[in-house]
Amino acid sequence: MSQNKITAIILAAGKGTRMRSPLPKVLHEIAHLSMVGHVLSLCDGIGCNERIIITGHQSDKVRSHIEEISKSKKMLSDLQGQKVSFALQEPQLGTAHAVSQANFEEITGDDVLILYADTPLISIETIQAMQEIRQKGYDMVFLGFETPYPTGYGRLITDEEGELLHIVEEKEANDEEKSVNLCNSGVVLIKKAYLAAILPQVKNNNAKGEYYLTDIVSIGREMGLKAGVGLCDHEEVMGVNSQAELSHLEMVFQTCKRLWAMENGVTLQMPQSVYFAHDTKIGAGTVIEPNVYFGKGVTIGENCHIKAFSHIEGSVIDEGCVVGPFARLRPHTHLMDDVKIGNFVETKNAIVEQGTKINHLSYIGDASLGKNVNIGAGTITCNYDGVNKHKTFIEEDAFIGSNTSLVAPVRIEKGAYVGSGSVITKDVTSLSLAITRSEQKEVKNWANKVKNKK
Ligand code: UD1
Ligand code: MG
Repeated sequence: MSQNKITAIILAAGKGTRMRSPLPKVLHEIAHLSMVGHVLSLCDGIGCNERIIITGHQSDKVRSHIEEISKSKKMLSDLQGQKVSFALQEPQLGTAHAVSQANFEEITGDDVLILYADTPLISIETIQAMQEIRQKGYDMVFLGFETPYPTGYGRLITDEEGELLHIVEEKEANDEEKSVNLCNSGVVLIKKAYLAAILPQVKNNNAKGEYYLTDIVSIGREMGLKAGVGLCDHEEVMGVNSQAELSHLEMVFQTCKRLWAMENGVTLQMPQSVYFAHDTKIGAGTVIEPNVYFGKGVTIGENCHIKAFSHIEGSVIDEGCVVGPFARLRPHTHLMDDVKIGNFVETKNAIVEQGTKINHLSYIGDASLGKNVNIGAGTITCNYDGVNKHKTFIEEDAFIGSNTSLVAPVRIEKGAYVGSGSVITKDVTSLSLAITRSEQKEVKNWANKVKNKK
């Protein structure tokens, strides 16, 4: 494997008119991560030492988004520590012009990897294969793909040995070149010094009047350089120009993620109905029933059972838990081993220790529950007084009767009981029973009295 340090240059200046969206194109998400976030994640995966993002349209929004995901642990821990810088391309005069906006004197990598921010599904393995080709003496490697429908793409023209001779864009291609099915993805790995030398030589005397990055092949060959081709599936290098294409790539991503889960020993009873986030992690032996939705930041341990129609985000679920059906786990939920969360239960910012059961119709928010607590049906933690949020503590072995309101801040100590139907506003001491409902009265023969009134 090449030890060359790689600097990524990511093109993100395009307008994205066909998205018809106020959001910059590259901020649209696939599996809860922006497209440019996926590309940055790839850079991390291949060990790029720095990334330069070329921005243009809505530059401020794109930059602040990238700065946010680069810093925020919550959004994308994988991006921690990546060196990210920006260059502005204004106006946009083509892909070579875009790349030349980077300050080459500050680039520390031996090689430059050029990526598009609207092409989010490229795998680490594909780039590693390009690195291997680079190592075999090719000065630049373009990533290509074969398709029966090449219209619109640049064509890679190669010799019998597979060496890349030149790239011709659709608009300049003759009929023979148009019949070539080997297309340019736009991704290039090239020695930095050569790229810096070639870019000033690229001209814009072509059909579009743009500075084509693809011209670096012919110019490089005139300088005696050798160009090669790496290959991947078409789907991997599909770019997004419209909402329909975004949804197509979302589907491709979800299919891959489902296969990944199953390959890692997770049972998906109806894979096509489960929606994953890019960072969902699930342990072996866990069973996921149909129609389960994962927002970002979910980690599930081994041997859990996630029942149908559950909605889970920002949560950690340890081993052997049962969740759902129809459960909603909101951010900062942590279920420790063997916890049971049943139907129509909502949790938020809640730590639930081993063996605790919250089986029916409850809201547990801003709460900390000890081991082996039993929460009766319809229990509500009243955590919000209209201004501030307050915490509820329920210590181990406590028993909360059905239809209880726990008005926070409040603490139910170890082994205490709360009678059903209570509204608890004061702490309950260990092993005590607290009950606040009014006493039951009985009026004898009431029914007959009512009926005989007629
Ligand atoms: C480019 C390639 C083509 C390839 C195709 C793959 C060139 C000349 N052509 O064509 O061979 O088959 O991609 O999709 O490189 N961008 C900028 N600044 C610019 C121009 C483009 O940042 O001035 C960005 C765009 O936002 C986009 C990417 O570069 O993410 C590609 O640009 P696009 O205009 O789509 O290039 P194509 O004409 O499709
Ligand atoms: Mg394009």
